[in-house]
Amino acid sequence: MSAKKLIAANWKMNGSRALVEAVVQQLTYLSPDVDVLLCPPATLLPLFPASRHYALGAQNLSEHEQGAYTGELSASLISETGASYVLVGHSERRQYYGETDQLVCLKMQQAVSSALTPVLCIGETLAERQQENTEQVIAKQLAAVYASHPELLANSVIAYEPVWAIGTGESATPEQAQATHAFIRKQLAQYDAEAAAKVRILYGGSVNAANCNALFAQADIDGALVGGASLKPSEFMQICQSAKD
Ligand code: PGA
Repeated sequence: MSAKKLIAANWKMNGSRALVEAVVQQLTYLSPDVDVLLCPPATLLPLFPASRHYALGAQNLSEHEQGAYTGELSASLISETGASYVLVGHSERRQYYGETDQLVCLKMQQAVSSALTPVLCIGETLAERQQENTEQVIAKQLAAVYASHPELLANSVIAYEPVWAIGTGESATPEQAQATHAFIRKQLAQYDAEAAAKVRILYGGSVNAANCNALFAQADIDGALVGGASLKPSEFMQICQSAKD
């Protein structure tokens, strides 16, 4: 459990120069008691002025260091934009671009070797939850990275995003999220107990200004990964302010 919460914005394939300006303007008034991470499309990253109010991240990276991989972005190219984080294994990448656990593990290694902090996204589908396989699915997604590379945990952020809650308006309940976060922390302890106690575990999936307080009150919820609501500057700011301790 971390002292300071982290609120991350995942703009997905949305946004514009105007949205960058609006969000930068809003976050000027942010309290220093909360960490904020903005993950816009990579082409917008250089438009953000350096600021003590937020860190920047990309939404994806290549598993390769460099070379003939048309259309891909390496960890070092991402770093050069001023970004210090990267989302890895978002369910949309797993679902629409065929990202496997093995590929996710390679991307995690690339990120950390270029000093980017990876935000490892995990979560079960609706069918998996209905079959009561949530814990099994999550344990497998974590094991695919940390069983072979436990050293990555000390540099990771985890985002638990049940697939059925993403973009649906139906968030997990605070109790459901807390139970899964506690399970994640317990699983991670077998790879590195000290890092597991400290790692930030974010909840993602239909987080908004109305439901975030109850989520943030849970012992093992260290922040949020916010999609849709992060595109509305004043609502995103409200979510960030709610995360103050
Ligand atoms: P949502 O997206 O907040 O729109 O559900 C979250 C995410 O996919 O990271």
